[in-house]
Amino acid sequence: MPAPRRRLPSLVTGALLLGVTLLATGCAADAPLDIFQGDGSESQIINDLQIPVFGVAVIIGILVLAAIVFIVVKFRAKPDDDDLPPQTHGALGLELGWTLLPALILAFVAVGTVVTIFDLADAPDDALEVDVYGQQWWWGFEYDVDQDGTADIVTANEMVIPAGEPVVVNIRSRDVIHSFWIPALNGKKDAVPGRTHHLTIQADDPGIYRGQCTEFCGLSHARMQMRVVALERADYDAWIENQQRDAETPTDADAAAGLEIFQGQCVTCHQIDGVDEVEFAAQVSGAAPNLTHLMTRSTFAGGIFELYDEANEGDPYDLGGIPYNDLPEQGTFNRNQLEAWLRNPPAEKPMAPDPTEFSQYGRGMPNLNLTEQQIDLLVAYLETLK
Ligand code: CUA
Repeated sequence: MPAPRRRLPSLVTGALLLGVTLLATGCAADAPLDIFQGDGSESQIINDLQIPVFGVAVIIGILVLAAIVFIVVKFRAKPDDDDLPPQTHGALGLELGWTLLPALILAFVAVGTVVTIFDLADAPDDALEVDVYGQQWWWGFEYDVDQDGTADIVTANEMVIPAGEPVVVNIRSRDVIHSFWIPALNGKKDAVPGRTHHLTIQADDPGIYRGQCTEFCGLSHARMQMRVVALERADYDAWIENQQRDAETPTDADAAAGLEIFQGQCVTCHQIDGVDEVEFAAQVSGAAPNLTHLMTRSTFAGGIFELYDEANEGDPYDLGGIPYNDLPEQGTFNRNQLEAWLRNPPAEKPMAPDPTEFSQYGRGMPNLNLTEQQIDLLVAYLETLK
């Protein structure tokens, strides 16, 4: 029987290759969605469970693999083997051992898991609350600052929170099932139509924490990203104050012309608070991000494009060293990308399988066939939304 001996080296080589591949893929430095690089009390609770469990699993995995290799080598069929090796079926010690030991290990994991689930569900009653809405294909965030039941701040793509304080996120969906996931701050939580799911997050340090929709929700699911921006308390208060401010009617001639185009083309989906001429937009808009303070965000189009060049240089976490609240004043506006978006959104972010049939499917932002001059004027207006 020569066949088994030829198979043995390929089995060992395969196992080695698999191990090396797993090690290589698991060691990416600074991966923004790395679940082991947490920075919050919730992610710490998760790591306190998953790191020991992962460690035990690795040890067991190595032992099992080593045992398999040892047994395959030691007991492989030899050319002159005719008889079966001694049979161990029914050996009481072995049977008890490999039944009880795994049961014991799993019992420990089960207890740890249940405790962790309850720990994660704990949220202080006075925690700050943010309503999160998943929508094809972006995330909306609403803040009821005066707690009167209506949102005072409506923003998109980026949820701003105070660092070092717990925040309860109320997760909802406006269409299909999405899943809210900021790996550095907590686990995943589905956004299910008709339901509200709660998740507590707390970022220990100021910073930008990347997230990604993790439930397949249509063509641009992978392009449905979000960020949590944790600011020092004073910066957070300043952000809250600015976000409650209405947009001003532009004085610059180009921006004023841009506002007129906005009124004609954009208000059926996008709202801008406080500009008298688009007040009626409150009646009809809401299908797309509220743009009142567009320029205070670091991204647009569902978090996939940077609004400022600094974020594309070097460390994506520190926005080129510019404080988040100072982006509109100090950042280098990524004008080309915003113009490309206005020129043909479905080309930048797929909305329908066949872009020419957009109206039939009606998802995301359509190509409005704006002229270059209209785009220039619109951008001049959007730039004033700080
Ligand atoms: Cu939303 Cu995937």
